[in-house]
Parts: sequence; structure tokens; C-alpha cells
Amino acid sequence: MIPIQSISYPIFFENSLQELHKFILESKYSKVFILVDSNTEIHCLPAVQEALKDIDYDLIEITPGEENKNIDFCIGIWRMLLDFGAERNSLLINLGGGVITDMGGFAASTFKRGIDFVQVPTTLLSQVDASVGGKTGIDMDNVKNIIGTFTQPKAVFINTRFLKTLEEREIRSGFAEVLKHGLIYDRSLFNTVKMAGPIGLTDEIIYRSVEIKNEVVKEDPFEKSLRKILNFGHTIGHAVESYSLSHDRKPLLHGEAIAIGFICEAYLSSKKNGLRQAELEETVEAIKAVYPSYNLRKENYPALLEIMKNDKKNNGGQINFSLLSEIGKCGFDLYCTEEEIFESLDYYISM
Ligand code: GLY
Repeated sequence: MIPIQSISYPIFFENSLQELHKFILESKYSKVFILVDSNTEIHCLPAVQEALKDIDYDLIEITPGEENKNIDFCIGIWRMLLDFGAERNSLLINLGGGVITDMGGFAASTFKRGIDFVQVPTTLLSQVDASVGGKTGIDMDNVKNIIGTFTQPKAVFINTRFLKTLEEREIRSGFAEVLKHGLIYDRSLFNTVKMAGPIGLTDEIIYRSVEIKNEVVKEDPFEKSLRKILNFGHTIGHAVESYSLSHDRKPLLHGEAIAIGFICEAYLSSKKNGLRQAELEETVEAIKAVYPSYNLRKENYPALLEIMKNDKKNNGGQINFSLLSEIGKCGFDLYCTEEEIFESLDYYISM
């Protein structure tokens, strides 16, 4: 599996930790930091330590969880960087899932006006999505990724062995983004992924998924056009995720919420962008086969709509959607009325 070349950096798959070691030796950083959470410290750091035996670094540890992807934790990272004497020529290695790669990327891109960082994603979600494409950020007031930058990492090092340390629920969450890459860009990937299911995913499927993400972000790094297709399922999915985060005792994971978004937005795709009924049903079946149903209630609709109104993608006060025209093809900058959005939520409930 040859490295994939992204906008300005390589994405390594094979021997990725040895590649990380080589990268650090060649780059001559004055200081190296590794950002972990308590999970990756236990499950992933030992392999990194083994690969970086002769490299000095300082460790920064944060508490895991999307609820901690906020400015307070970010200040904690900046403070540690300051206390440990980080300079402009320092490197931050983000070792973790989407919270670590997004927030670590944001902290690095703003500290002293920007220090280098690399992504070592350890969850399926961060390997196939968050670590590639240079989106960094934190949440505020339960609005996801509302503060952030577009800053490309210096490299991404993907090691699929880390996935063996994950619970099945985490794999299912990342699986949603793999399905999405098939739905929006590659019918044959969708067929393969549907057959494989979350526990049958292979390195080849993960590699192809990253290739798709990379092709799209290379074409449109700042999300002016094509990159918007990656938001399929995310307008409604993000709203459900934010709502769940502030209301549920055991909140939905990102991919679980996005899967709800896929069903609603596939419905909207059939209404607004020509997705055929048979392909709508095929999409819904693929999602229902993997994700348990979520108790959406009509009385929650206004709250969900309020969250959607704050979405970064909106334009002129209208709620922006990316919708499928067929499985494997997606349009963007499509707008739906409140009634249509409510109808799509009704469709989800009726499933
Ligand atoms: N996660 C969507 C994107 O990177 O654009």
C-alpha cells in the first residue's frame, strides 16, 4: 500500500510508525510533544514509544470524550506547551481519535501562530475522515467544530492495528464514514462495504476510503464546492449528535448520529435530487442492518432545527444540504424547507 499524496503531505499506511520515526529524525524539531488521552496512552502509546525509542518528547494527556473538545481543554494544551517550552520549531504528534486530531490540530495551528503537527489517528473514524484534509477545531455551546482552522498536518500515519483496541461500538461509528464515501463517490465501494459490515472491514477498504476522502479534499481544500459532498448526512446528523450530547445519559457517537442523518438526507435526496426509490430503500436497508434505531420524538424537532440553523454550511439563512442523485454521486448546495426537514425526520421515525 503505497503512501497517498495529499495536498502538501503524505499519508502513510505501511510501517507507519517507522515512517513517523524517520520523519522526526529528518525534520530536526527542537522539541517533540505527544498528545494522548487516557485510552490512547494505554492502548497505543506503547507501540509509538517502541518506534520512537531514541526520540525525547513530552507527553500531554487529556480526558477522552467529545464533551471535552472545548476551549477549556484547548487552553490546557496551550498551557502545557508553554510550560514545557514549546517553540515555533516544535512538533505536536496527535495520537488518538477525532477529538485528539481535531483539537490537537487546532491547538497546534494557533499556538505561537502555528507549530507543525502530525496526525496518528487511532480510531476508524479518525483514520478515514478526521485526520485527512486539514480541518481542525473545537465545539462551543454544543455546536460541533464551530471554532477552527483549515491547517494541513505535516503528515498522517495510519496504523490499522490500532483498530483492534477499539470496542465494536467505536468501529460501527467509524463505519458510517466509510459507508458515506461509497454513497457519495463510489458505488462499487458501497457494495463492498455493505457486504463486509463493520467487523468485515479490510485494510483495502480503509485505504480506498482514505483515497476518496483525499481525492475530494485535494480538489477543494477550503470547502468552496466539491468538498461539501463529504457533508452528506451531516446537516441533520450533526444536529442529532449535538442534541444527544446535551440530553442523553449515554450520548450517540458521531457515526451513530450521522447514520440517522443518512436516512433523513437520503429521503431528502429522493425528494430534491432525483435519488430513485429503489436506491433510497437500498441505502436505508444498509444503515438499518448496522445501527439500532434511535428514539427521535416530534417534540424534539424545533430544537433540532435550531441547531441546524447554526450550521457552518448555511448560506443566507437557508439550511444547506448535500444530497445524493444516485448511489455513488452527490450534489451540494441544495436547500430544504423546514417542512421538508420535518418530513424527513418523520420518515426516520416511520422506519
Ligand atoms: N469531515 C468532512 C470534511 O473533512 O470535509
